[in-house]
Amino acid sequence: MSGGAGLAELVEGAGILVCCGSGGVGKTTTAAALALRGARLGRRAVVVTIDPAKRLADTLGLGSLTNTPRRIDGDWDGELWAMMLDTKSTFDDLVAKHSADAEQARRILSNRFYRNISSALSGTQEYMAGEKLYELHEEADFDLVVVDTPPTRNALDFIDASRRLTNFLDHRLYRMLMSPTRAYLRAVNLAAQAFVRTVSKVVGGEVLDDALAFFGAFEGMEEGFRDRATRVQALLVDPATAFVLVASPRTDTVAEASFFADKLAESGISVAALIVNRLHPRFGKGRPEADRARGRTLAGSALGSLFTNLGDLRAMAEAEEATLVELSAQVVPAPVVRVPLLVDDVHDLDTLARITGHLFPTG
Ligand SMILES: Nc1ncnc2c1ncn2[C@@H]1O[C@H](COP(=O)(O)OP(=O)(O)OP(=O)(O)O)[C@@H](O)[C@H]1O
Ligand SMILES: [Mg+2]
Repeated sequence: MSGGAGLAELVEGAGILVCCGSGGVGKTTTAAALALRGARLGRRAVVVTIDPAKRLADTLGLGSLTNTPRRIDGDWDGELWAMMLDTKSTFDDLVAKHSADAEQARRILSNRFYRNISSALSGTQEYMAGEKLYELHEEADFDLVVVDTPPTRNALDFIDASRRLTNFLDHRLYRMLMSPTRAYLRAVNLAAQAFVRTVSKVVGGEVLDDALAFFGAFEGMEEGFRDRATRVQALLVDPATAFVLVASPRTDTVAEASFFADKLAESGISVAALIVNRLHPRFGKGRPEADRARGRTLAGSALGSLFTNLGDLRAMAEAEEATLVELSAQVVPAPVVRVPLLVDDVHDLDTLARITGHLFPTG
């Protein structure tokens, strides 16, 4: 299977594509290009960025994006939509959805502890991202949801977040906090003290009363959250969810990509495709040394420096290919797709379409 064909099948068949990789390799650009391809195939595609930076809007040539998908018009058979995850409003919507009534929702949403954890607690962003995915995939009826993840060394934060929530709900500390008597909490319990200290660190000093009020108000909602978290977990490991690893051909980013692939494998998830972005151009099969030798022979002439440049570029391309050998072997049988470094940054649909063209060279 050639790389391009394998990736084409993925965009045709997958329900969710998660683009992950280290900082600056081109995750946002790739995610947008894959969604564009989906729309061209007639699918109802949405690209979601979890990254609060405005890069996705920029890539699509748009001013801004919000937590509600925005439709992008263009010359394709399907639909292309884009949105930027807003952790806090997604959390608020979830609370409203699981509350028994408006009064319970109001008590939680106005609680100071909630207002802090809903944006500050680590993992909340990843958890809400999973939640949003579920909503887009299951409830908003998108055929293809492409996820642009923020730069992180730990691809698993995203997958683990819903598991951590269910673990937390099962944890005895949570059960203790839910217990109506504060005396119970005051009981000398090192674990509880450590928990409160940790929470205090995140949200500031006078947190205990707020926290207790929050857990009091939360009563009765765990079931809804737990059920939802379990479904999100199932969706993330579903065969229709595929992880696309994005890398660039440099020793350090390739090492990070390899680390990502390892981490995914530990969770039983394989890389569905490897996209190597920003490769230097290739000029046929000549040997760098031969071109450099000609450059030396013709030294001082314009042609001589052209040959020297050609030799240097060929050497660079060879070095880039060499960095990719092990990673490509590591992700077998995933297709490896190469995208060249363009002269311009990607900040409009025309340039994005060129990236899509390189990802799917056969149309
Ligand atoms: N093939 C390419 N040729 C030229 N420029 C590119 C290419 N791919 C990406 N870029 C540019 O490189 C920059 C980084 O790309 P992008 O934002 O997609 O990376 P990212 O992995 O999402 O970064 P971050 O980790 O910061 O979120 C952008 O300015 C983008 O326009
Ligand atoms: Mg990005």
